[in-house]
Amino acid sequence: VDPSRDESGPDFRGDEVELVHLDRDHPGFSDPVYRRRRDEIARLARGYRAGGPLPAVEYREDEHQVWRTVWRELEPLHRARACRAYREGTERFGFDRNAIPSFAEVNARLSTLEGFALAPVAGLVQPGLFLEQLAQRRFLATQYMRHGSTPLYTPEPDVVHEYIGHVGALAHPGLAELNVAFGHAASRAHDPARIEALIRVYWYTLEFGILEEDGRIAVYGAGILSSFGELGRFETEARLRPWDLEEIVATPYDPTDYQRVLFVAPPMERLRSELLQWLARI
Ligand SMILES: [Fe+2]
Repeated sequence: VDPSRDESGPDFRGDEVELVHLDRDHPGFSDPVYRRRRDEIARLARGYRAGGPLPAVEYREDEHQVWRTVWRELEPLHRARACRAYREGTERFGFDRNAIPSFAEVNARLSTLEGFALAPVAGLVQPGLFLEQLAQRRFLATQYMRHGSTPLYTPEPDVVHEYIGHVGALAHPGLAELNVAFGHAASRAHDPARIEALIRVYWYTLEFGILEEDGRIAVYGAGILSSFGELGRFETEARLRPWDLEEIVATPYDPTDYQRVLFVAPPMERLRSELLQWLARI
């Protein structure tokens, strides 16, 4: 889930004929089978209540195929560009590269690591709600797969983004702790300006963060780590700005396009301590 989305929360119940709206330029726009599949998965998520049984999506063979393609293409890029903490977390979690696990399977494993659990959402969630849930180690996430015609591209977060981008962080003690700290700060922040500041800092760190590591730039943000396109372009195409939390708070972002600005954080331990201090002041 990325915190920029702004629509129904997990308690929204709806039964429209078509639940999921796709824009005209969405790769699945004119594919009725895909649209029905999206609706089916959205309906499962909308039927979910916190604490209840997780809706089981039975992934189809074509969806598993997309999963395999994504791993095959992304893993070499991760070896070259992902930061150590992310690589350690992903290794610790131990994804099956051949089959998409269910939320129940992912949660069974996450619960033995840093105690996180994914909770399904149909699509868009209010960013403030998304952040608050992190305090309970609950990570709101989508379950649908991107369109099979574009295995390396999705205009919106999907199960690949959630699993490959975020789960590695939720399985790593240091990165999981940062997620929780964002949650506590969001639970304390009632002023909309502070919530917006938190949303932007989450965006430019855990979602689209890069940092200095061993004399080079490494990636720790889920949005880059799960995107073949971002991994291939960010260093040459985005404007890389020095680390400055005040500037981050003052910098809006566009969730629908490649990121134009990224902030180069200091090495992981300093990044963590500065971020935890900043969050504690909220
Ligand atoms: Fe995300």
